[in-house]
Amino acid sequence: MAIDIVILAAGQGTRMRSNKPKVLHSIAGKPMVQHVLDQANLLEGAKVHLVVGHSAEQVREALEGQAINFVVQSEQLGTGHAVAQALPDLATDSKVLILYGDVPLTPVDLFEDLLNSVSDTQMSLLTVNLENPMGYGRIVRDNGVVKAIVEQKDASADQLLIQEINTGIMAVSQQHLSEWLPKLSSNNAQGEYYLTDIIAMAADQGIEIKTAQPQFEQQVQGVNNRQQQAELERWNQNQLAEKLMIEGASLADPSRIDIRGSLSVGKDCFIDINTVFEGDVTLADGVEIGPNCIITNSVIGAGTKVEANSVIDGASIAENCAIGPFARIRPASELKAGAKVGNFVETKKSVIGVGAKINHLTYIGDANIGSKVNVGAGTITCNYDGVNKFKTEIGDGAFIGSNSSLVAPVSIGANAVIGAGSTITKDVEADALSVGRGKQITKSGWKK
Ligand code: UD1
Ligand code: CA
Repeated sequence: MAIDIVILAAGQGTRMRSNKPKVLHSIAGKPMVQHVLDQANLLEGAKVHLVVGHSAEQVREALEGQAINFVVQSEQLGTGHAVAQALPDLATDSKVLILYGDVPLTPVDLFEDLLNSVSDTQMSLLTVNLENPMGYGRIVRDNGVVKAIVEQKDASADQLLIQEINTGIMAVSQQHLSEWLPKLSSNNAQGEYYLTDIIAMAADQGIEIKTAQPQFEQQVQGVNNRQQQAELERWNQNQLAEKLMIEGASLADPSRIDIRGSLSVGKDCFIDINTVFEGDVTLADGVEIGPNCIITNSVIGAGTKVEANSVIDGASIAENCAIGPFARIRPASELKAGAKVGNFVETKKSVIGVGAKINHLTYIGDANIGSKVNVGAGTITCNYDGVNKFKTEIGDGAFIGSNSSLVAPVSIGANAVIGAGSTITKDVEADALSVGRGKQITKSGWKK
């Protein structure tokens, strides 16, 4: 049986008080609806339909290029009406999974459980027991058998006591949906076409209604306002922190880490407080990250230490390097084993050789720096003439005196020495000393 996934995202999300559609607000740096899409896309061969209404264009634009069938629900007449808009696009005889764009953290294995209980004689619901079920549709059972869902506003006093609630997520055959949706009426407290009314129809027809429950209630929690968004964000971060610790990393404080992407760690890594990881980051064994770092799309080799307040983006860093504090490693920087990049040093699109040291106040861009090179404080690779970028080559073992400007394109040979304060515009051969600056003139006894 084919799988169709219908994600409801037409609502306005008034309580976010935002110009941005609710489903584009993020958890862990990723729009909520993208979380849903990413899990849905793990179901092989499934076709995704996204029901949009409010700010439909903004949602469509944000998700451009993905395999999504956008279905427009121009008037929000209820969840049943929303699913009905997608009905003409569903494969006959498919299994249909219904999800919400503002419920970001449901794992795909729950989707699989639900889909496994769809047939000509079965459908399934994701439910959860809540201490405080206020506001949710209640699962009405008779001798344990699901008979109906009643919405809060339509529930009797007895039904309001039920703590098992409808998460909204369900799976049902297309055949059944196309039979039941046209029969929905809006004759209820909210004057809406409730998707939940199909449960009573199913029960009446003797269809078995299976239920599944999440491991954590946060996995089925929807976001209606910014407080709920922040709560879910922190819960999710705590889960990610737990996982890192299980994998063998120590965290100075698991409540002060932010992972916005995927972070993989080796054994015995240490991560101090307030570090943000974005995109794909890999830390090999024994990596230590100081407080307040931001590390994006980078690989960091075993035993490397990154000190406080360093920013690393798109870099490949080998083992036993030392970085920071206050270093900025920009995209396409490659540090070879044992390299040191110290405070207020910026690197970009450069290779820093084995054991090379760039300890203070330096800009290295478009450069190829050999092994054991020492770059003195205040050195600048002048890589840009206002129009084009040029390369600087520094051979193994060279020594660049402090406060030198290397005007690219330029190459410094192996073991060459550049005198402090030099402006180097011409290539320097290996083993040479080059000094390029005005000579110091001292006039004794000089008066103004
Ligand atoms: C719905 C369920 C309720 C469940 C709760 C879980 C119904 C009738 N009720 O109630 O049983 O406990 O979710 O959160 O289904 N949407 C559309 N088009 C519409 C209406 C809604 O796309 O016309 C979307 C919304 O954007 C939202 C989702 O459907 O993502 C749920 O809608 P909402 O109005 O929040 O439903 P609830 O009243 O909370
Ligand atoms: Ca809701």
